Amino acid sequence: MKEIELGPEDRFTDLPAEVEVESQKYWILKNDEMGSYRLVSRKCPHAGGLVEEESGELVCPLHGWEFDSHTGVCLNVPSKSLTAYTVIVKDGLLVAQM
Ligand code: FES
Repeated sequence: MKEIELGPEDRFTDLPAEVEVESQKYWILKNDEMGSYRLVSRKCPHAGGLVEEESGELVCPLHGWEFDSHTGVCLNVPSKSLTAYTVIVKDGLLVAQM
């Protein structure tokens, strides 16, 4: 496992936020109930479409699967979810554990 700095926590007040890590596209999500962050891949677990944000919702444009914008769990097929990584807050920075 390695730790990747994503940036200062106060930069990510408007979530989901798009970030790129090692040329791959991700969303930073926040579970408001738990107060915890997650980094999730934008690659759809169905057939690899690039998940987009539409009015605060995460939607795959290829076949319309929708994902919870706080957890990345698929709303159409609950056994599926966007690949997720733990994010911790360290000295005011969001750090993904990948
Ligand atoms: S590839 Fe995303 S819904 Fe099919």
